[in-house]
Amino acid sequence: MRYSPEGGVVALRACAEGGDLIIEISDEGVGIPPEAQPRIFERYYRTSQVEDAIGAGLGLYIVRSIAHLHGGEVTCDSTLGEGSTFKVRLAKR
Ligand SMILES: Nc1ncnc2c1ncn2[C@@H]1O[C@H](COP(=O)(O)OP(=O)(O)OP(=O)(O)O)[C@@H](O)[C@H]1O
Ligand SMILES: [Mg+2]
Repeated sequence: MRYSPEGGVVALRACAEGGDLIIEISDEGVGIPPEAQPRIFERYYRTSQVEDAIGAGLGLYIVRSIAHLHGGEVTCDSTLGEGSTFKVRLAKR
């Protein structure tokens, strides 16, 4: 929501895929430049385009750490100026 314009939709979706639970979070926000996408899960990393927005650069690092502790993974698919989708994959067990 922080990186979305006023009124932008943030959608949550959960489904089963094979033996995994998938949780997807999509926004219609600023998007993430391709060159930054490999780095957004690093601790304290923030893109220059969001410098004016409050944030510590920790959220995605923590999300990925929790996913890893559950044996899962989180990935990002984003288009600059259009929005981002984060996908958390957890084994159902
Ligand atoms: N939904 C998003 N849309 C666009 N850019 C994003 C989005 N989520 C994260 N980013 C980019 O990735 C960077 C790292 O995100 P992260 O969530 O780890 O930290 P943060 O949002 O800056 O601060 P916080 O620790 O409060 O979450 C952000 O600073 C921003 O540049
Ligand atoms: Mg964040």
